[in-house]
Amino acid sequence: MTRPDLSEPAPAPDPTGTPVLEVDDLHVEFRTRGGVVNAVNGVSYSLAEGETLAILGESGSGKSVSAQAIMGILDSPPARITGGGIFFQGRDLLTMPEDEQRKVRGPGISMIFQDALSSLNPVYSVGFQIGEMFRAHRGTSRKEAKQHAIELMDRVRIPGARARVNDYPHQFSGGMRQRVMIAMAIALDPRVLIADEPTTALDVTVQAQVMDLLKDLQRDTGMGLILITHDLGVVNEVADNVAVMYAGRIVERGTVDDVFNNPAHPYTDGLMSSVPQVEHKGGRLLPIIGQPPNLAAIPPGCPFHPRCARRRLEADALPGRVCDTDVPPLRLVVPGREAACHYSEEVLGA
Ligand SMILES: Nc1ncnc2c1ncn2[C@@H]1O[C@H](COP(=O)(O)OP(=O)(O)O)[C@@H](O)[C@H]1O
Ligand SMILES: [Mg+2]
Repeated sequence: MTRPDLSEPAPAPDPTGTPVLEVDDLHVEFRTRGGVVNAVNGVSYSLAEGETLAILGESGSGKSVSAQAIMGILDSPPARITGGGIFFQGRDLLTMPEDEQRKVRGPGISMIFQDALSSLNPVYSVGFQIGEMFRAHRGTSRKEAKQHAIELMDRVRIPGARARVNDYPHQFSGGMRQRVMIAMAIALDPRVLIADEPTTALDVTVQAQVMDLLKDLQRDTGMGLILITHDLGVVNEVADNVAVMYAGRIVERGTVDDVFNNPAHPYTDGLMSSVPQVEHKGGRLLPIIGQPPNLAAIPPGCPFHPRCARRRLEADALPGRVCDTDVPPLRLVVPGREAACHYSEEVLGA
């Protein structure tokens, strides 16, 4: 056995080393009168401690549904998880007994909902609602819960927390209500926070303040952050890695810098090009024509092919890589980058 060489400095802890959450080949469908809606079709990703992963995609691409599956709050029926696993610190939530799940969801993984601003109860004070987290999960007394609520209001930088703890939601601005929601979400010191479009309803200055707050809280606690958004600017500013979703699948994944500087999927390329303020190679403009698919009738082959400027059909396509019949798997294209396009190498080189 070799003894450790104590003259060497200890290796720096890797803040993005251990996966705290792993989603593996998740499938979610809705059985509706209009048919089966395939909302999530084999989504996989992992999130490390301290990492910020952005999930980016147009409306209706399955971002919220995949988050709801993690939180166990799918509207089911009609929703059904038809496959996959959701691992928190290595344990699959989907096969865990319900009482165990309850110990993870809330305390371990918490979420700020897309419609958060309207989900505060108008008849209870904000302090009571924040304190409820402690009473419900830890059996804390009312008085102590209120004290915790004041501390949390301070942490999310609500001015005059002590004086405002008994105020009602309507007495707060949109930005301050969002801070209340963030306070509730971090109350139990989760290891993973999922923020679903946390700034969409806010004006631009307030958006920036809320994102700063989330980043600061993450720095303090080391929690992993999943940021669901359709805002490229937000992704660029705060995320380490990005997963681009289309039609219930991840179509590209990598570091934000890599993906933004040189997309490997035509859909990502289209997203970048549709937003003038994002620096983009060459400044080409390839607006994405058409609409995202109806998830009850996803096109065969590559789900993006009807909108794709680079699609190759029978005549000039390579065997097994015909865009309207062969589904491109998410694959490693270059180190650190995955994309689900038959022709990613060409897209990258363009
Ligand atoms: N309660 C529901 N019943 C039926 N279909 C639903 C329901 N909720 C979501 N869906 C379907 O799932 C798809 C993905 O929704 P969602 O994850 O909310 O998209 P987004 O990426 O905008 O967050 C939607 O296009 C919708 O068709
Ligand atoms: Mg959504």
